[in-house]
Amino acid sequence: MAEWEKSFQETNQELLDFLDSSPTSFHAVANMEKMLKQAGFERLLEGKTWNLQEKTGYYVTRNDSSLIAFRIPGKDFVGFQIMASHSDSPALKIKDNAEISVEKQYIKLNVEKYGGLLCAPWLDRPLSVAGRVVVRTEQGVATRLVNVDRDLLIIPNLAIHMNRKANEGYEFNGQRDMLPLFGGKEAREGFLKLIAETAGVKETDILDMDLFLYNRMKGTILGFEDEFIAASRLDDLQCVFASLKGFLAAKPKRSVAIHCVLDNEEVGSGTKQGADSTFLRDVLRRINQTMGRSEEEYLMALASSFMVSADNAHSIHPNQPDKADPTNRPFMNEGIVIKYSANQKYTTDAVSGAIFKSICKRAEVPYQVFFNRSDMIGGSTLGNISNSQVALNTVDIGLPQLAMHSCYETAGAKDTAYLIQAAQVLYSSTVCGTGDGEYQVEWAEESD
Ligand code: CO
Repeated sequence: MAEWEKSFQETNQELLDFLDSSPTSFHAVANMEKMLKQAGFERLLEGKTWNLQEKTGYYVTRNDSSLIAFRIPGKDFVGFQIMASHSDSPALKIKDNAEISVEKQYIKLNVEKYGGLLCAPWLDRPLSVAGRVVVRTEQGVATRLVNVDRDLLIIPNLAIHMNRKANEGYEFNGQRDMLPLFGGKEAREGFLKLIAETAGVKETDILDMDLFLYNRMKGTILGFEDEFIAASRLDDLQCVFASLKGFLAAKPKRSVAIHCVLDNEEVGSGTKQGADSTFLRDVLRRINQTMGRSEEEYLMALASSFMVSADNAHSIHPNQPDKADPTNRPFMNEGIVIKYSANQKYTTDAVSGAIFKSICKRAEVPYQVFFNRSDMIGGSTLGNISNSQVALNTVDIGLPQLAMHSCYETAGAKDTAYLIQAAQVLYSSTVCGTGDGEYQVEWAEESD
């Protein structure tokens, strides 16, 4: 195996560990916090005063499910270099009063869909439960992370003998078909007990919870030459991970580097911690203010900023290659995908596309281009939503993958490392603009 291949696989192993230990957005944020703390970053709280120092790393979370980390090179910074990705993935969420008895023989759990999931992959595989519970405390309420972390549930298919047309396309009913089997008759009133036990709290202290099902199948590396990775939540934790790794490796010179991970992209971003919230804007303004700069300096900084909205993209499907645009053909392991759409579902325009291409060139990583087929409506992402809160020169990109929104997705073994490289260059550089159509891109020196 060549030296570069080894480093790709090291990166992938680290990515797979991150994915396996991040069954929900809350866990993804907790894992990022661990990595940031290890790198010497200090935690800030939105409800406390910020005393920011130059050349120091900070991070702040909102709702324990969104996180923004930043590093300020100096008080006289030019702008913000941002990569934004999302912490959530489609899943099944557990409802209150979840237990349903079936003829006094089975206990199943009542769930509802979170986001636009592919239903079929959730069936016939071991599942578990993770998320957070909110408990009563002497002072009020407090949140606890919980992960049952064992094979616990299964959503069984109906036998083909009972539906001979099953292979001719099946319409999944969210209330009938997606409820997981939890146990036999002994499981009655066992669910909350299990959650309380796992969280290390008293059952009677649990006031509320956000609990999700997750796929127990661990991520893996596969293919003739180990050229693919398959795992849960690649959309969008693959970009989250690459953004953070690039961020930690970067040495911002003249602009503030911002690693931004937002929750609830899969349900429209309209929460207090989503891309349509003030979270990013609040943090940018606060950095500006705390460094003793004026409102005008803030607006000037926005004009000299660049944002990469990083959310996974569709690779050409081996069995259905005609589902993609005829002339723009992204493949796994062929590099970072730049996404375009004429109706601006993606924020990319000729300027932000060109700047991102120059970042890839500088990072010596390949890029490719995605358009939807002109007769198909594609997905949307957080870039343009975020722009309605804080308007920045933005490009939409992603890593090419298959089976998006399945609970087990497939991506390229090389692409994560490409995005880490590009992120590092992004976070180290500065894109100066005044609004006159000219942009000076300043790279950090190699030797720094
Ligand atoms: Co996504």
